[in-house]
Amino acid sequence: MRHGDGSAGDADYGRIGHSYGAYRQPDPRIAAMIEAALGPAETVLNVGAGAGSYEPTDRRVTAVEPSASMRVQRPPRLAPAIDAVTERLPFGDDSFDAAMATFTIHQWTDLAGGLGEMRRVTRGPVVILTCDPFEVAAFWLNDYAPEVLATEARRYPPFEAIAEGLGTPVERVAVPIPFDCRDGFNEAYYGRPEMLLDPAARLACSAWSFVTADYAAAAVAALAADLDSGAWDARYGTLRTQPHYLGSLYLLVSSGKAG
Ligand SMILES: C[S@@+](CC[C@H](N)C(=O)[O-])C[C@H]1O[C@@H](n2cnc3c(N)ncnc32)[C@H](O)[C@@H]1O
Repeated sequence: MRHGDGSAGDADYGRIGHSYGAYRQPDPRIAAMIEAALGPAETVLNVGAGAGSYEPTDRRVTAVEPSASMRVQRPPRLAPAIDAVTERLPFGDDSFDAAMATFTIHQWTDLAGGLGEMRRVTRGPVVILTCDPFEVAAFWLNDYAPEVLATEARRYPPFEAIAEGLGTPVERVAVPIPFDCRDGFNEAYYGRPEMLLDPAARLACSAWSFVTADYAAAAVAALAADLDSGAWDARYGTLRTQPHYLGSLYLLVSSGKAG
């Protein structure tokens, strides 16, 4: 299904995408891990590119993004994105040295088809940044908004399905989330819980758009009350000084066709 602004996944970025660029800046430490996984590639395909987070600037990048609201948030230093979906990539076989997809595969309508297309058009590594659905609920936000995390867990594909869709050996690399992570996904606020009281910060995490406004308001009120009373700090306060969090975030790297 494509929404009004062309959004092709299960989230409608015409409705929720406007604050995305402000809250979902690429984090340089996560970017460095992606850069390393792309190896020496000179040409890179970025699928579900959104506003361009994590897109290398020192290689020739082709970006694919179906949502008009996301395409207009791309900074001028990045090439405009092509309006297409991963399930039907308008490129020939082996067109790119490497490909990447960050925080997007959980939104695709056809995971196997989309991954198969990425693999078809790419000679070298295919690099996927995503979350392990079986680890999502371990995050403290589950105490307050279990439906939000259950939604996330339902949407993220199991890693076995990703490996199967790519059809090559896949290396799984845990991504440590830095305390001051600039990319505002839910776990990025592990040690800064007050950030999740901000409606715009929540809107930039699409799982919040799948619960009702009443549900979100009750979850946020419970969190605010625990922050006020000190109950959150009594349980989780050590996270306020923990430099990294190992949560559900992983890089999956499919080796190249010859590798
Ligand atoms: C959460 S955003 C991530 C954007 C960017 N990669 C990042 O890391 O910030 C997910 C993006 O995937 C795009 N998307 C959803 N379904 C898609 C599909 N079938 N093919 C390509 N992109 C898709 C959405 O339009 C959205 O821009």
